[in-house]
Amino acid sequence: MADSTINRYNRKAQKYGQRWQKYLDHTHQRLLNYIEVDPSDIILDPSGGTGLLTQKLIDQNYSFDRFVVNDPSDKMLAIARQRLSGKSSISFDNQKVQDLSYPQNYFTKIICLNSFHFYEKQQQVLNQFYNILKPSGKLYILDWNREGFFRICNQFINWTNTEFINTRSLPELQQMMTGTKFNIQTSHSWNWRYWKFMFVEGVK
Ligand SMILES: C[S@@+](CC[C@H](N)C(=O)[O-])C[C@H]1O[C@@H](n2cnc3c(N)ncnc32)[C@H](O)[C@@H]1O
Repeated sequence: MADSTINRYNRKAQKYGQRWQKYLDHTHQRLLNYIEVDPSDIILDPSGGTGLLTQKLIDQNYSFDRFVVNDPSDKMLAIARQRLSGKSSISFDNQKVQDLSYPQNYFTKIICLNSFHFYEKQQQVLNQFYNILKPSGKLYILDWNREGFFRICNQFINWTNTEFINTRSLPELQQMMTGTKFNIQTSHSWNWRYWKFMFVEGVK
């Protein structure tokens, strides 16, 4: 179940940051433009990769109470652990998103960045996100958006990759989130190079 994706990230972890630097700079900065982080926040990044988002939050003087960097790829997570070592407010987990085992009503924010298209049971994952968020907690998703010219690029990516990819359009993601009882607060859609992205903020 999605293990080919995890294996691929294990193989490419060392070169990930450099290979995708411009893409990562763009998507992370866009996300940071859209989200709010409060000093009392308990945040989950369910596919935190190499911990880049957490590092950017720290570098840009955001403060939070606790931050959990989760990623099922050991090698990606090892880089996150190294990058963020010695910071007591940050912890690390190694779970697949479909198997997350956190208490109900636990997190104030969940930030899912560049990863939703890899999730096989997306509706089930959204339900799980909803359960582990506190009431009034927020889910932020930034991901590829299967609309316009990017439909063709996405089809090409699907043909040339062996791992599971299910890219959604903005209306599809909004519908899935409202079906999970999230109230959609904000959404954005934009082009960058040959990519098309979307951002959605849902409130529990
Ligand atoms: C494109 S990377 C994004 C990493 C990070 N969010 C970023 O923007 O740099 C996708 C991440 O999704 C993770 N991933 C793949 N399958 C997953 C699953 N089933 N559950 C949770 N994360 C998964 C990969 O290990 C990888 O770190």
